[in-house]
Amino acid sequence: MDDMWEAAWAAREHAYAPYSGFRVGAALRAVGGALYAGCNVENVAYPQSQCAEATAIGVMVAAGESVISEVLVVADGPKLISPCGGCRQRLAEFSDPSTPVHLCGAGGVVETTTMGQLLPRAFGPWSLE
Ligand code: THU
Repeated sequence: MDDMWEAAWAAREHAYAPYSGFRVGAALRAVGGALYAGCNVENVAYPQSQCAEATAIGVMVAAGESVISEVLVVADGPKLISPCGGCRQRLAEFSDPSTPVHLCGAGGVVETTTMGQLLPRAFGPWSLE
């Protein structure tokens, strides 16, 4: 998953985070193998800010894809980053409980978990079936 880390790190370099100073990158691998990356985009009206995962999802959907096979998030703070609650729900829309989620730092992957572990008993598209 080096390619995912590289893509997420490159996106993170472009993060617009003047308010928190906390830059985040995310990369999604779609089922066909293509990679989509995003960074956080903050706003002076703080609640209008967007997480890196949301940006990456938008890029993926705009490219015509909607099934995620793997997720990677990276930051370089002192603690390991994990997708926020809202982004867990956003990611669940396009993945399933077994989808791997790689949590990374500046040196690479630190831990790999799954969507099911991050968002147990999720309300997903399958809930409406
Ligand atoms: N952030 C993300 O981009 N993804 C997450 O999952 C957690 C938080 C961003 C939002 C904000 O721009 C900064 O990190 C600090 O919260």
